[in-house]
Amino acid sequence: MPLASSADVLGAAKTAGRGIGAFNVIQLEHAEALAAGAERTASPIILQISENAAKYHGALDPIGLATVAVARAASVPVVVHLDHATDEALVDRAIELGFTSVMFDASALDYDENVSRTADVVRRAHTAGVWVEAELGEIGGKDGVHAPGVRTDPAEAAEFVAATGVDALAVAVGSSHAMTTRDAALDFDRISALAQAVSVPLVLHGSSGVADADITRAVRAGLTKINIATHLNVTLTAALRRYLDENPSVVDPRKYLGAGRAALADETARLIGVISGR
Ligand code: G3H
Ligand code: ZN
Repeated sequence: MPLASSADVLGAAKTAGRGIGAFNVIQLEHAEALAAGAERTASPIILQISENAAKYHGALDPIGLATVAVARAASVPVVVHLDHATDEALVDRAIELGFTSVMFDASALDYDENVSRTADVVRRAHTAGVWVEAELGEIGGKDGVHAPGVRTDPAEAAEFVAATGVDALAVAVGSSHAMTTRDAALDFDRISALAQAVSVPLVLHGSSGVADADITRAVRAGLTKINIATHLNVTLTAALRRYLDENPSVVDPRKYLGAGRAALADETARLIGVISGR
């Protein structure tokens, strides 16, 4: 199965009113587990690597190329996406490495600057056939900032999409990044209003903090791409900790990372069911 494009995966999901899970890769085991979970449910998936994850590895290339290889070997459509990139050189590198989708995040800039820098990235990415997600209305939560009150304005969102030519839009509707509890209160009326106003697929960031039932409801209200990172790392870390506690003499990383990877694959498959919106 070739590496899939977001145009195909998210375009078809939006038309069908389904959601697609976009899960973050930090280690190779993440990519393997996420692809295995998608294969188990015979569903498409988006594997995304953030600018922060690339910084952790010192470069995008090693983890990016490994993730592209996992995607190429999968039996279901797998998109490889660059997440939360603020550095345009990193966007260009992702395109060179074979990523089929990128998020250029200029949401911390003022509106006009966000429009002009995003439009430039869209022009370059589209020349290479790559899909672009952008963000309007900064989604808080990173570095301890909790901003669940921020909301994207539907009219401004429609104007932003028309002015930049982006293919997908991340919107602020009550979620917040990096929550380890699942009690965020989503603004479902705002989601419906945004879905009415904007024709491209809408993206929910910080979905770890959203309860299963609310994720399904948000997809039915009009969200398409559901980004989850922290919750899966909670799953991975708990499984590793359990294995290490139960096997104090273990030294082979394949044993404890393998236990973590298996738990991650199970939770991925379960979440795909929740996100499908059915
Ligand atoms: O871009 C990635 C996400 O928005 C993940 O957020 O760690 O809160 O699930 P999360
Ligand atoms: Zn995010």
